Amino acid sequence: MTIITGPLPEQDSRAVGAALQATLVDLLDLSLMAKQAHWNLYGARFRSLHLQLDEVVTTARDYADTVAERAAALGISPDGRAATIAGTSGVPTFPPGWARDADVIEALVLTFSAVIDGVRARIGEISSVDAVTEDLLIGLTAELEKQSWMFQAENRL
Ligand SMILES: [Fe+2]
Repeated sequence: MTIITGPLPEQDSRAVGAALQATLVDLLDLSLMAKQAHWNLYGARFRSLHLQLDEVVTTARDYADTVAERAAALGISPDGRAATIAGTSGVPTFPPGWARDADVIEALVLTFSAVIDGVRARIGEISSVDAVTEDLLIGLTAELEKQSWMFQAENRL
């Protein structure tokens, strides 16, 4: 049964929905990974990195909400359940336990690279289908690439 009727033809809705869903789980997983690092961090750069990780969490959570609500507006049910995140996220696994500052920075560089690659690929897939969603994903990519730059800059000693 159709609950919400979106503006796109069904086939286009499915393509855009898949792009939004894949982005949603990556952002939710990124927010969890950054919090895990925020809590387990140790090392000389603790204070700045501890705060920086919460900036990642805020960005990931805010954009996860925007992405999920874009899906809903298109008539596509977003799925942010824990099992769905665990089963479909493209975010690299973050190890358990205490996390040294240099290792956390390296992990964030790799994670941002994976998430950005995914979002950029999805922009290519949907650019001819829905410019509004494309615009949303472009804004997200700019923010992710800004934060990726900052972690890369910290990764060069
Ligand atoms: Fe905190």
